[in-house]
Amino acid sequence: MTEQRRELGPLVPDELWRRDFPYTSAGEEQVTRRDFTRYLAAASCAFAAGTVGVAAYAAARDTHDGEPKEIVALAEVAEGTSHLFRYPTPRDPAILLHLPGGELRAYSQKCTHLGCVVFWEEGAEDLLCPCHEGHFDLRTGEPVAGPPDRPLPGIELEVRDGRVWALRMTT
Ligand code: FES
Repeated sequence: MTEQRRELGPLVPDELWRRDFPYTSAGEEQVTRRDFTRYLAAASCAFAAGTVGVAAYAAARDTHDGEPKEIVALAEVAEGTSHLFRYPTPRDPAILLHLPGGELRAYSQKCTHLGCVVFWEEGAEDLLCPCHEGHFDLRTGEPVAGPPDRPLPGIELEVRDGRVWALRMTT
């Protein structure tokens, strides 16, 4: 027995930690592997459950097509101008376009690139997203220039007694 070992006192054969952890050094590797597998399985299950929850929440939000809602009197939106409103929920910015020639179009105002707000400058040939110079066709909402690669979600419209109504989201 070394000098240092003598200072620490005699080995206790039934130490408390040995009762709580009754494995020999030969079995430690197995225990570690078993624990690791258990933690891995628990973490995988938690991750999978979280992913399913987030996907379900996103799907529930995206399926909100909207209900008929009066937007504005047509006489208040001159040809060649736009009118901003909220649709299908009060959190969703949208834009109504009264195109030269009388056609009406409405789209979500959220750019399909990273969600900035698009607008129509009077006389411009297309809708503009100022964040990264994204451009969208006025008549179809299709991207025509810049980073966006998906069209703006459209809104079906109807004119009833001189007032413009949004009926539902179309895309
Ligand atoms: S957010 Fe509209 S172009 Fe990037």
